[in-house]
Amino acid sequence: MIRILFAALLTLPLQAYETTGLQVEHRSNPVGLDDSEPRFQWQLTGDEPGLSQTAYQILVASSAEILAGGKADLWDNGKVASPFSHVTYAGKVLPSTTGIHWKVRTWNADGEASPWSEDQHFTTALIGSQPSAPWISFKDTTPFHKDRQKLHLPAPRYYRKQLSTDKKVTRAIAYASALGIYELHLNGERVGDAYFAPGWTNYRKRAYYNAYDLTSQFQQGENTLGAIVADGWYAGYVAYGKLVGYGPFKTGRNIYGKTPALMVQLELSYDDGSTETITTDSSWKVATGPEFEADFLMGEGYDARKELGAWSGNGYDDSKWQNAIPAADNGSHKQVFIDRFKKEEQEFGFVEPPVLQAYPAQPVRITEEIPAESVSELKPGTFVFDLGQNIAGLIRLQIKGEAGQKITIRYGEMLHPDGRLMTENLREARSTDIYICKGDSKGESWSPRFTSHGFQFVELSGLKEKPPLTAVTGLVMHSDTPFSSGFECSDPLVTQVYNNAVWTQRGNWIDLPTDCPQRDERMGWTGDAQIYAASAAYHADVAAFFKKWLRELEDAITPEGYYPSYAPYPFGHGGAIHGTAWSDAGIIVPHSLWQATGNTVFFDAHWPAMTRYMEARKKHDPELEGSAFGAPWGDWLNVDDETPHEYIDLCYFAKICQQMAEMAEAGGHGDEAARYRDWLATLRANFRAHHLQEDGSIEPSSQSAYVLALDCNMLTDPAERRATADHLVKLLASKAGPENTGMSTGFLGTKPLLPVLTDTGHHDLALSLMQSRKFPSWGYEVKNGATTIWERWNSYTEEHGFGGADGKMNAAMNSFSHYAFGAVTEWMMSTLVGIAPAEPGYSKILLHPHFPTKSSDDTDQEPISWVKAHHDSPQGRIAVSWKRQDDGSLLYEASVPPNTTAELILPETSPWTSDEPQTKSQEVGPGQHRFIVK
Ligand code: BGC
Repeated sequence: MIRILFAALLTLPLQAYETTGLQVEHRSNPVGLDDSEPRFQWQLTGDEPGLSQTAYQILVASSAEILAGGKADLWDNGKVASPFSHVTYAGKVLPSTTGIHWKVRTWNADGEASPWSEDQHFTTALIGSQPSAPWISFKDTTPFHKDRQKLHLPAPRYYRKQLSTDKKVTRAIAYASALGIYELHLNGERVGDAYFAPGWTNYRKRAYYNAYDLTSQFQQGENTLGAIVADGWYAGYVAYGKLVGYGPFKTGRNIYGKTPALMVQLELSYDDGSTETITTDSSWKVATGPEFEADFLMGEGYDARKELGAWSGNGYDDSKWQNAIPAADNGSHKQVFIDRFKKEEQEFGFVEPPVLQAYPAQPVRITEEIPAESVSELKPGTFVFDLGQNIAGLIRLQIKGEAGQKITIRYGEMLHPDGRLMTENLREARSTDIYICKGDSKGESWSPRFTSHGFQFVELSGLKEKPPLTAVTGLVMHSDTPFSSGFECSDPLVTQVYNNAVWTQRGNWIDLPTDCPQRDERMGWTGDAQIYAASAAYHADVAAFFKKWLRELEDAITPEGYYPSYAPYPFGHGGAIHGTAWSDAGIIVPHSLWQATGNTVFFDAHWPAMTRYMEARKKHDPELEGSAFGAPWGDWLNVDDETPHEYIDLCYFAKICQQMAEMAEAGGHGDEAARYRDWLATLRANFRAHHLQEDGSIEPSSQSAYVLALDCNMLTDPAERRATADHLVKLLASKAGPENTGMSTGFLGTKPLLPVLTDTGHHDLALSLMQSRKFPSWGYEVKNGATTIWERWNSYTEEHGFGGADGKMNAAMNSFSHYAFGAVTEWMMSTLVGIAPAEPGYSKILLHPHFPTKSSDDTDQEPISWVKAHHDSPQGRIAVSWKRQDDGSLLYEASVPPNTTAELILPETSPWTSDEPQTKSQEVGPGQHRFIVK
C-alpha cells in the first residue's frame, strides 16, 4: 500500500513577488506586429507558497516616456479582478509604425500588489493596411530555364540606394520583403540577424514583410540602404521538383516566378513632426556580387575576388551598376506548370502578392556554433570534418588559400565505412558550396547565407595542405523558438533519445516544420507536424511559429475544403492532395497548441476552415465507417505491418471529432460540439460493428490497428481497453526475439504506442521498449551513433548498412533527421516524468509520474531509477524529479509555478512494496513539494 510518509511544503522566508515573463503575441519585444488586438501574457514569480493572482492591471503607452510617467495613453484597464495571466488588447486603436511600451502588475490573494513589471516594448507594423512600395527587380534578359538535366543557378543581386535627409530623424522603420530570400543592409552593415526572410508562402496569394527599427543606425545627412536578393523558394529549386519533373519545363525551379523581386518601404519621422516615406523604385541600383550562385537546395558559390567592398555604404561608386526596374517590366512569362495533377498555363512573370502581412514568428537565426571534433584526410587535398552532431544550417570556413584557389564544400549526415561522405540520401539536393579564395595572406573566412544543409560531416576539397580543425565551424540554424524543456534520467541512452528529438526539431524548424533538412524535400508535411506538435510544444515555445504555419496550411486548402498533405503546397504529389492523418493536422495542430498555450486563437482564427474541413470529410464518408480518404500513406514506414487506409481513417476521424467537440465547447460553439459528438458515437459504433471481436481482438490485426483504436478512444471502457491491449501485447511478443523488440509500428502507430501501453497497465513493457537497444527501437539508433532521430527504423542497420534489405533504400528516401518517431518525447514528459496540462495552457497541471515497477522479462536494461525534467509552461517553470533511494523508497519532488494548481497522482501500483492497485490523487498549489513514497 502506498503510504505518504512525508509531504512538506518547503517554505522559504516571505519575499515580494514579481510580475515577469511578459510576452505579446507569444514573443518578447518583437519589432513588427500587425495584430490589431494582440494578446498580452505574463507570469508571477516568487517563492510565496500558494502564490496566485487575484487581479491585474496593464498599461499600454505610445512612448517610453509616457509609460515611465506611470501613464498610458493607449490603454489602462485599471485593476481588473481576474485569475488569468493574459488579456487581449482592448484599448485605443493601435497606431501603426509606433514603438509601443507596456507593463503589468498583479495582486496576490492577500491583496498585495507586485511591483510593476519591467517595461516591455514592441513596434507595430502597419495595422489595418500593408506596405505599398513598388516592387523592383534587375532587368532579367535570360531565357526561361528549360533543361531539366542541367542545373541553372543564377547569381543573387545586390541593390543599393543612397538617400539624404537634411532634417534630424527621430524614427526610421523599414518594411521589406522579397519574392525570393533577402538580407537588408544599411550604411555598410547587415541589418538584423534573420536568415531566409521573408519565409515561404504561396507568394501568389500572400507574402510576409519584415519590419526593422533602424532609428539608432540612421544618421543625419547621407544614408544608404542595401539588399541582397536570392532565388529562395520563389524562383529556385524546391523540394523534389527536379527529381520528379514538376514546375515549368519540369525543371523543379521557378515554381512561383522567374525573377526575384524586392520591396522596401522606409518610414522616416523627423524632429519637426514631419514624416517621409522612401521606397524601392527604379532609382535603386543593382549589380551582381561575389556570389555567383545561391540556391536553397543546391548550395552557394562565392568568388571572394569579386567582393564589392562597402557596397551599402555612403559614397560608394555604383556608376557601373545598372538601374533597377519595376518588377512588372520584366514582362509576362506564361508557361505550363506541370505536376502530378495538372498541366496548366500560369504566369511566371511578376505577380504582386495581393496580401502582405508582418512576419509573425521568431526568424531563422544562427543559434549555436559547433566546433569540429576531428578531421581526416580522405585523399590528397580532400578532408572530412566531423562535428560530432547532426545539425541543419551552415558552416563558417576559415582558411588560407591562394587567389583563385577553389574550395569545394560538400555535406553529409553519415559516412560510408571507407570514410567517404554518404550523399546518396540527398537525392537531387546538390548541397555543395564553392568558395574561391581571394588570397589574403592573413587568411579568409566565409559563410554562405542563402542555403541550408543537413549534416554532421563536411568535406573540403581543393586544399593544398591539411587544414586545422578550426577551418570548419558548424553554424546551427533554425527558427529561433525559445527552448522550454530539459530531460535527464538514469539511462543515458533514454536521455540521449530526448536530446536527439530536440536536435531533430532544431534541424527541421526552418521557417516551417519541414520533414527533413538534407534531401531535396524539406517540405511542411502535415502528417509529421500533427504527430509531433505536442512534443514540439514541450521542447520549445512554438506558439508564434505555428501561428505562422497554420496560415500557410489554410492557404493551401483544396477547393473541396480539404487540408493538404504539406504546406506550403508548391505542387501536387502522391495519390492525392490530401490524406487521412495528414490533412487532419488542420484539426490536431490547433488542438495541440491550444492545450500547450491555453490560447484559443489557434482554432478561433481557423474555425470556418476547420468546420468546413469536417463537413467535407463527412461528405466523403457519409456513413462514418472510415474510407480511403486521399493519399494512402497510412501507417507510413511501418515494419511490414500494414494497416488498411479505411481503418486508419475511421480512427483518425474519431480522434478529430473528439478534438473538434472539445474546441467547439471551449469556443462557445455548443451546437457544433454536439454534432461532432454524434459523429463520434457513430464512428465508435461502426468500429464495434466492423472491427471489434468479442474477445477484444481487432480486425485488422496490425499493431497500429490496436494502438490507434486505443489512442483514438474507439473503446472507452477501461476493462475493454485492457482486454484489447492484451492482444497488442501478445502481438508485440509474437514478433519479439533475441535481437528484435517486436515493434512494427510506423509514423501513426509509434507515437501513441507507449502511451496506450502505459495507460492499459503495461508501463513496464513501454519502458523496456524505450530502453531497448534491439532493432527496431530508438535505442538501436543511439547505439549506432545517432545524434538525431532517423526517418526509418532501418535507416541504418548493422546488417544492411544504409541501403535496406534491397540495397536501394538510401538513394530513395532515407533521412537521418526526421522527427516523427521522436514524438515519443511527449510520452517521456507527460507520462514517465508526468508533466501535462490538465487544463489548456497549464492553468491546471497534471502531475502524474509513472515509475517502473520491475525490470520487464524481455529487457536487459536496468529499470530507470531517476528522472529530472522541467517544462517552461505559460505559467512558469514546472520541474519534477523522482529517484529511487537505497532503502527502496522513492523521493518525488515537484515545483509548481504560481497561479496554478496541480493534480498530483501517485502511481496506481506501489512501486516497490506492494502489488495492490491504488490511486492517490491530491491537489497541490504553487511552491516546492517533496514526497517520499514507500
Ligand atoms: C516525407 C514524410 C511524409 C511522407 C508522406 C515523405 O517523403 O519525408 O515525412 O510524411 O513523405 O508519406
